[in-house]
Amino acid sequence: VLLKSYNTFGINATARYFASFSSAEELKSFTEHQQQDGLPQMILGGGSNILFTQDFNGWLLKNEIKGITVTGEDNDYVYVKAGAGENWHGFVQHCIAQNLAGLENLSLIPGNVGASPMQNIGAYGVEIKDVFYELEALHLKDHSIVTFNNADCHFGYRESIFKKEYKNQFAILSVTYRLSKQPHFNTSYGAINEELQRMNVQELSIQAISQAVINIRSSKLPNPAEIGNAGSFFKNPTVTKAVYEQLHAAFPAMVAYPVADEHFKLAAGWLIEQCGWKGYRNGDAGVHARQALVLVNYGHAKGSEIYHLSQQVMDSVKEKFGVELEREVNIV
Ligand code: FAD
Ligand code: EPU
Repeated sequence: VLLKSYNTFGINATARYFASFSSAEELKSFTEHQQQDGLPQMILGGGSNILFTQDFNGWLLKNEIKGITVTGEDNDYVYVKAGAGENWHGFVQHCIAQNLAGLENLSLIPGNVGASPMQNIGAYGVEIKDVFYELEALHLKDHSIVTFNNADCHFGYRESIFKKEYKNQFAILSVTYRLSKQPHFNTSYGAINEELQRMNVQELSIQAISQAVINIRSSKLPNPAEIGNAGSFFKNPTVTKAVYEQLHAAFPAMVAYPVADEHFKLAAGWLIEQCGWKGYRNGDAGVHARQALVLVNYGHAKGSEIYHLSQQVMDSVKEKFGVELEREVNIV
């Protein structure tokens, strides 16, 4: 099966076998059958955080489990469960329309609900771990259905147990979020305040925050429908205070902010831009002209070309700043 339309990078790789499923039972019967051929299995959502560097010699299983339901309510919260195959932004809009708060800062992130816990998606001061309640997942080998609560997922910055110890072992079936009846607005990310002012918002609301985030994102992130990409290609690196102080002395304009335990997070986009990569293009592989953290495919780049470019970027950041970048996108 050709995968070009199943990954937002628009890479022209193939999968040996491809199937989609819309229930746990369907997936179970697929995987029981597939286990006899011994080929690897991988779950696919919206394909917006994957780089295929070669053809996938196995079963690619597209999760299309749908449905959004309220599963509970208490004084302060409503518990909303969504099928893994629901579009993320559609789910966010659904919750906003019900006046349920907590996801508005995460508006317009591409992909599906089922992948949201994979890397604990985050943007504009919020990560899903702040509102995540639990998920249900099917173990691909023994077919048990396991419930993971927030602590079980080992969420970190762009990390979870599903990207590490349990990589390719579970299919996430549904995710339940705990959303607030009374909003607690998070405008800690500077750009949001600027945009709210520009929009001339008089009274803060989750609708206004969502619209501000949509405006900011649309202005600097490439739309995958126009230019292939998977969002930030690298994570923002964390360094010790000592390393930060050395770098800051040498590069006073460096963008960084303090995080817990005497560490600092550096803006990888700034580091990459300083190495001269912003707007770089070689064939159809490039570095986005408005956001250097995003690698792009202008049409017919191969996954291996994007990967090679990412290595060049990492090498040059290492050479100029002594800082190791780590890829954020899932490499296949
Ligand atoms: P896929 O790309 O389909 O899959 C990603 C990984 O999760 C793969 O390893 C896959 O095997 C696994 N997986 C997917 N679904 C399941 C499932 N149901 N069960 C088990 N494993 C599964 N991310 C952010 O965090 N913040 C951002 O601000 C952000 N901005 C972006 C902007 C753009 C323009 C783009 C293209 C991407 C951006 N991303 C961002 C990355 C991406 O949107 C998220 O990582 C998203 O959660 C990926 O969802 P998906 O369904 O497309 O996952
Ligand atoms: N910057 C530059 N040059 C660039 C890009 C950025 O100097 O080319 C500077 C900006 O000026 C700014 C700082 O770096 O001062 C941060 O930039 P931005 O606000 O665009 O955010 P980011 O750190 O580059 C992260 C996430 C994004 C998320 C935004 C908003 C990671 C790896 N990326 O990007 O997530 O949307 O913050 O919260 O943490 C993604 O994961 O795919 C993604 C897009």
